[in-house]
Amino acid sequence: MKSKFTDKEVNPLESIEDWENDLLTRYPEPKSEQAKAKEDYRNYHDSERVDTVREFYRLNHQYQTYDFVRQKEAEFLKFEKKEIPFWEAIDYLNTLVDDSDPDINLDQLQHLLQTSEAIRADGHPDWFVLTGFIHDLGKVLCLFGEPQWAVVGDTFPVGCKHAEEIVYPEFFENNPDSKDERYNTKYGIYAPNCGLDKVKMSWGHDEYLYQMMKDYLPEPALYMIRYHSFYAQHREGAYEHLMNDHDREMFKWVEKFNPYDLYSKVPVAPDSKTLRPYYENLVSKYLPSVMAF
Ligand SMILES: [Fe+2]
Ligand SMILES: [Fe+2]
Repeated sequence: MKSKFTDKEVNPLESIEDWENDLLTRYPEPKSEQAKAKEDYRNYHDSERVDTVREFYRLNHQYQTYDFVRQKEAEFLKFEKKEIPFWEAIDYLNTLVDDSDPDINLDQLQHLLQTSEAIRADGHPDWFVLTGFIHDLGKVLCLFGEPQWAVVGDTFPVGCKHAEEIVYPEFFENNPDSKDERYNTKYGIYAPNCGLDKVKMSWGHDEYLYQMMKDYLPEPALYMIRYHSFYAQHREGAYEHLMNDHDREMFKWVEKFNPYDLYSKVPVAPDSKTLRPYYENLVSKYLPSVMAF
């Protein structure tokens, strides 16, 4: 697959963090004085990012087809690429972000710690804290040379019509699935309210990490990991027709998780050294010390 795309197509974003930063423009934090100050700060940076994020979505919406997802599943869900000790994977992930703008681009470990520490501060169960801490670990996909648009970005169902509520819906015009009669109707290959477990999502760090973690964490944690980038549903409610009652119950957790992911980002570095023993303990309670990628 790699040779099919030019360097510009593989890395349309300056930094893979730009996608998440852009989400804040679409879904700003409910206003407080502090939030307003933060927003002014962000808007300044946002203006430089609009074009690259647009290009990122153009590529994402064009290439994320049903067949593409199947290929990626076949390639990555055997977990035969590499065995990596858990903490090395975290360090590995940290090499991802080039800190061209250190004011806003916290490294990945800091984003994970800010998310998990905010969850911990609110007194949630330890598996919820752990979920915050690992939720973006699937971004290691980038380190296998995967295009950014096949690692991050809003996720959406493939195999049925692309909802208008997905960001930049006009770019689906270039996605061959939108011309394919099997895939371009409301339900496509799915039955009404079949349940999301039967629905294939566009490929990225969410599904990859879910598949890696599915034997180790409680179900609400798995939903949070698997659907945290599914904004078209957890923010817009655009795919109710594919969900069953159990999904609806579990999406309360996805919705609970989202603000921690989006709004815990403050340009203050958590003290990873001091926090490390707590997280080492937590990780060893639930996960094997070496993970297969
Ligand atoms: Fe994420
Ligand atoms: Fe995140």
